[in-house]
Amino acid sequence: MTSPTGPKIIVFGNEKGGSGKSTAAVQVAIGLLRQGRSVATLDLDARQGTLTRYLDHRAAHKGLPMPARGAIAQSRLSDSGEAAKAEAEALDAALAEFAGAEFVIVDTPGSDTKLNRLAHAKADTLVTPINDSFIDFDLLARVDPATRRVLGPSVYAELVWERRKERALAGGAPIDWIVMRNRLGHSEARNRREMGEAIDELAKRIGFRVAPGFGERVIFRELFLTGLTLFDLGAAVDGPPLAMSHIAGRQEARALIDLILAPPVHVRRQGRQAG
Ligand SMILES: Nc1ncnc2c1ncn2[C@@H]1O[C@H](COP(=O)(O)OP(=O)(O)OP(=O)(O)O)[C@@H](O)[C@H]1O
Ligand SMILES: [Mg+2]
Repeated sequence: MTSPTGPKIIVFGNEKGGSGKSTAAVQVAIGLLRQGRSVATLDLDARQGTLTRYLDHRAAHKGLPMPARGAIAQSRLSDSGEAAKAEAEALDAALAEFAGAEFVIVDTPGSDTKLNRLAHAKADTLVTPINDSFIDFDLLARVDPATRRVLGPSVYAELVWERRKERALAGGAPIDWIVMRNRLGHSEARNRREMGEAIDELAKRIGFRVAPGFGERVIFRELFLTGLTLFDLGAAVDGPPLAMSHIAGRQEARALIDLILAPPVHVRRQGRQAG
């Protein structure tokens, strides 16, 4: 199935490493595939290559749906201008190659690089997973340690703000930004509640939607080597048997996909229709 308006580009980004970008990206990619959508994936963290390797493991199974795949490594050119140009060209070429897909899922590294900034500017939807910790929240906003009130946006929120401005100036549709709490249940109840309040407050101030998020589930770690996702369990003959916690995890991943597919009204009106 192809889209007449070009793919919806879904970027998984957060400058904080290890927040669950690759984990969420692969669940969303395969979840959409399993809905019969055409999906391409682009790994911009080619050095680490988590998404690439995950899908390599997946390719070993017979009969599983596979997305089209691409990866871009950071340029090794010594001249920073030349390197940036080469990366921009590689990104445009990859996106052009996937022009017939409905969705391009872009996994990015947990660091601020030129390529990462470029990818953020291409996002129709930006999904930012954040571990349930004020250490991770610190990259989004500064918080008053005494009151836990949000004082103002911090480095990553400012990076997104800049990309949103660039897109607006270029006449692009606004980026639909979704912040997703990850590994819920890992922290104690008070921290969870305070994080929830801080995220909700920040969401209103800087404009993002809050996804219900993923629980702390061993299965998210275990699936990497199998190349399977929660959407394959029960369907793949050689995968682990389906357990209750897997069904709960699948519902969490499905809720994220549903949120991505239902952008807020202002994005829907100016941007592309979701599938
Ligand atoms: N909901 C979860 N439950 C349990 N483990 C999780 C969950 N989400 C992520 N993990 C684990 O946390 C680690 C980091 O996740 P992941 O690699 O997806 O993060 P990332 O943001 O892509 O990291 P990087 O910035 O290094 O690319 C991995 O070991 C992953 O299996
Ligand atoms: Mg990653």
